[in-house]
Amino acid sequence: MVKLLSSSVTVLVLAIASVQAQTTINPADYPAPNAIPPVNSPQVVAWLKEIDLTGAPNIKIHTGQPPACPNPPIKDECYWTCDGCAADDIVKCKRPNTWGLTFDDGPSPDTTNLLNYLKKTQVAATFFLIGTNVVQHPDIVKREATDGHHLASHTWSHHALTTLTNEQIVAEMKWTEKAVMDATGLRLKYMRPPYGDINNRVRFVLKKLGYIPVDWTGDAFDTNDWQMPTMAETAVLSTFTKSLDTYAASNRSSGFYCLEHDLNAMTVGVAQKLIPLGMARNISIASVPVCENDASPYQLGGTAPMPTLPGATVTVSATISATKSGSPSATTTAGSSGGNKKASGAESNKVLGSMIMAVAVVAGLVLV
Ligand SMILES: *[C@@H]1O[C@H](CO)[C@@H](O)[C@H](O)[C@H]1NC(C)=O
Ligand SMILES: *[C@@H]1O[C@H](CO)[C@@H](O)[C@H](O)[C@H]1NC(C)=O
Ligand SMILES: [Zn+2]
Repeated sequence: MVKLLSSSVTVLVLAIASVQAQTTINPADYPAPNAIPPVNSPQVVAWLKEIDLTGAPNIKIHTGQPPACPNPPIKDECYWTCDGCAADDIVKCKRPNTWGLTFDDGPSPDTTNLLNYLKKTQVAATFFLIGTNVVQHPDIVKREATDGHHLASHTWSHHALTTLTNEQIVAEMKWTEKAVMDATGLRLKYMRPPYGDINNRVRFVLKKLGYIPVDWTGDAFDTNDWQMPTMAETAVLSTFTKSLDTYAASNRSSGFYCLEHDLNAMTVGVAQKLIPLGMARNISIASVPVCENDASPYQLGGTAPMPTLPGATVTVSATISATKSGSPSATTTAGSSGGNKKASGAESNKVLGSMIMAVAVVAGLVLV
């Protein structure tokens, strides 16, 4: 377990505190909560003008939330939840021995409790945000970014995307993008489809908007937290323990993405029991861009600078030790994927603000 000096944590916070609020969020300026936004509003009409949807696969719109699988299957639909076809969606974490930690459906009032835990544990995650919730809790979203977590989209209203028209998908994605941009200045790049409900028509529209879909590594890595309290916490823990044991016994040559939620006190509570199970098996924990080794975790066109996320570009190990006085005598050794960078904590005052130093210091955050 790597321990960071509080002074190092301060360096980290300064380094990533460039995330800014651009405007104050007024929910009245956004579509109605939890409903598919209208496609004839001036904003959506303008967004639709920016992209060309001609050539979208002509696959019939499904019904049901989530929809039943078509029987017989539709040829060339590539419907992930029905036939396991992922096309070029991301389904597993590229980084070896790594749990790609993701939380869907937030922010909720309970997210703050989770953020406190993640900070204490020095773990960074990706949050797949629902736009409706972003405008309710913009300060929590801001804190997620300044704490070093990665923000991504989970649509405006959490409807199954294969049940929406192409234009409705645009409205769902762009309103959520605007909400997070207004809260943080960051323009989202990754998304997770609600219910994992995605086919080639949905993928076509998402690609036009610059989004990369992230599914999860199959049923074994669904934590089932969303089934609580119908499913008892003990059952959630024992089921996921089996998946972690199976993974730990494998060659761990690639990592995995879980399905997990910062939805309510139960899911946020069980998260704090699940994460230690991974750590006990020496599985590293990282956000999506760290898994994917993506130094540009957001789309261009945001109004905040591209942040460097904890663990980004750093692959292996770090040791940080310090005297009890907290004087700047820490030594930091970080292994980087692109050649070794070494930095001494004693020099941290000189290089404060240098992104290279920030990367070295934050290396400790993904290590267990
Ligand atoms: C690790 O296991 C997977 C299958 O579980 C296999 O495809 C892969 O080749 C193995 N990698 C190594 C380096 O042994
Ligand atoms: C823990 O995992 C890291 C890679 O993530 C590996 O280098 C190290 O040897 C592992 N330690 C143990 C005790 O298995
Ligand atoms: Zn969801």
